[in-house]
Amino acid sequence: MSGGAIQLIKVSQSTMKKLIIANWKCNPATLKEAQKMFLALRGGLKNNSKAEAVVCPPFVYLAEAAKVFKNQSSVKIGAQNCFWEEKGAFTGEISPKMLKSLGVKYVILGHSERVMIMGETNEMTARKVNAVLKLGLTPIVCIGETAEERKQGKTSIILEKELKESLQGVAKNQMTKIVLAYEPLWAIGTGKACSVDEAVKAANVLRRTRKAPILYGGSVHSQNAAGYIAARLDSARQAGLDGLLIGGASLDPKEFLAIIKQIR
Ligand code: 13P
Repeated sequence: MSGGAIQLIKVSQSTMKKLIIANWKCNPATLKEAQKMFLALRGGLKNNSKAEAVVCPPFVYLAEAAKVFKNQSSVKIGAQNCFWEEKGAFTGEISPKMLKSLGVKYVILGHSERVMIMGETNEMTARKVNAVLKLGLTPIVCIGETAEERKQGKTSIILEKELKESLQGVAKNQMTKIVLAYEPLWAIGTGKACSVDEAVKAANVLRRTRKAPILYGGSVHSQNAAGYIAARLDSARQAGLDGLLIGGASLDPKEFLAIIKQIR
């Protein structure tokens, strides 16, 4: 067993709660709809000692989310992106300090949609990760390979490269304050979820050098979530997954609640 494997067992044992994150992306189209979704979640998300739910709506609905979930300790609010500066002449940007002032605890960074559609680079992600950590918020750093890279057997190399670049400048003792999300690009929004074995394998590649909790994201729904949740120490004594990052299925409060309910 490698030294990395010993480390990852420690991570698995110390991570008590599964992190179940709803990434609403650019949805819903109106505040009214968002309010309805928040209320449906509030009604269904009773305190669960085994799961921490994180709701990541668009920026413009965060203040409302903070209000709705104010007294619900098992639900946290997350943002889907942020800028790296605190304030200033940066038209259209939202700073980590602004997010913190609203009660936001988590920030998704480096999502492949920001990379592929908005042209963000790993270097930009690293600046954001450092800014978020500085304020005591938890970055959820997304990494994943394309279908082509996977076909060429390059998954491990790509994940390591992306991670190295996206975490540039982060001190070693800060690594436990980061959450990593393995989101293979070919599995996002395609209905082709990654197999549990493949997701765990990727997670263990990431854990070799870092102690961060690892989530899986990509076409997760209430019918396939259990497999990822149950993936814990296997016969090879490798750690499983620490949670899920859910896109499409999280837009249906019933689906999201059905996933949370499976964690006991
Ligand atoms: P889907 O669950 O819609 O595949 O999206 C995954 C994702 O991108 C979460 O960040």
